[in-house]
Amino acid sequence: MNIYVDSKMRDAERREELYRGSIFFHSPCQSTVKLCHLAQSLIEEAFRPLDPLRVHQSFPAEKSAELLAALKPRFIHHPEAKQHIQAMLSELGCDLEKTYFDVPRMRTAFPGDYLKSGIAYAFHPHRDTWYSAPFCQVNWWLPVYEITYDNCMAIHSQYWSRALRNGSAEYNYHKWNLESRHNAAQHVKTDTRIQPRPEEPVELEPQLRLIGDVGSVYLFSAAHLHSTVPNTSSVIRYSIDFRTVHLDDVLRQVGAPNVDSACTGTTIGDYLRTTDLSHLPQEAMALYLDGTEAKFVPGASTPVSALLGSETLR
Ligand SMILES: [Fe+2]
Repeated sequence: MNIYVDSKMRDAERREELYRGSIFFHSPCQSTVKLCHLAQSLIEEAFRPLDPLRVHQSFPAEKSAELLAALKPRFIHHPEAKQHIQAMLSELGCDLEKTYFDVPRMRTAFPGDYLKSGIAYAFHPHRDTWYSAPFCQVNWWLPVYEITYDNCMAIHSQYWSRALRNGSAEYNYHKWNLESRHNAAQHVKTDTRIQPRPEEPVELEPQLRLIGDVGSVYLFSAAHLHSTVPNTSSVIRYSIDFRTVHLDDVLRQVGAPNVDSACTGTTIGDYLRTTDLSHLPQEAMALYLDGTEAKFVPGASTPVSALLGSETLR
C-alpha cells in the first residue's frame, strides 16, 4: 500500500492505484475549504449559542440527536455543497463528464459514550463494499474542524487482501432503504438496525489514522476496512465524506478486489454526474442490478426510481 501526498498523478492512474489499496492525501484547496466553511456555518447555526465542539457538555444526547436530525439533511441537500464538490473534483483532476458522486454526508463522533448510534453512528470496522457499494467506488473524507489522533478515522490496511468473516451476506441496500434508513434519529443509545459487521475478532492494530488540516481530503477505496476511532478527546469530531465512481470503470466493471463482500443489491443509482447531476446511463446501472431492486420496491418499474436513496450508513 502506498500513501501519496499532493500527488499530481492523472486521475486514471490514481484510480488504478486506489484499486490496489493506495491512499491519496491532498492538502486544503479553495473548494475543499469552502465546503468545510459551509459545514461549519450550518453547524454553528444549529447549535448557537453553544460552542459546536462542546455541545455534549450542555445538552442531553436526545437534544443533540434532534438537532443533528435537522442539521445533517440541510447539509446533504444544500445546493452550495454540491457546487463545492463539483469545484473540488475539478481542482483535483477528475474528468467531470465521467465522474459521478453521491451527495456529501456530514458525520459526527462524540466523546465517550455520549451519542454513538443512529444519527451520530460510530462506525465499527467495515468495508463500504459490505454495504452494496461497487468495487470501483472511491471514498473522499474531510475533517470539518481540526482533528487529532484521538478523534479521527482509521484504516485497517492489513485486511486489504485478507478476508474477514462478516455479515454482509444478510445485507441488501434496497431492503435497507425500504426498512431502516428513515429513522436514524430514533436510535439514540443503541442501534438495532441490521448492518454488516465483522463476525470474528478484528486485529485493530496496526491501524492508519488519517489526520489533516481543515479542508484536507483523503481518498481511499471503498474496499478498505475502516472505522471511527473511539473519540477519547474532549471535543466533537465533525467530518464530511462522499463517494465517486468513474463511468469507464463502471462500464468495464473494474475496481478493487473482492475478498469477503457477499451483500446483494447496489448503490449504483445514487451517483450523480458532476456536470449536470444526471444518473449513470441505464446500461451502466444494469450491469450492477441483481434483481433484488425489484423485490424490495414493490411496483417499481424503472431501476432509477427503485435505487435512489437520501441517507446512508456506511
Ligand atoms: Fe464507510
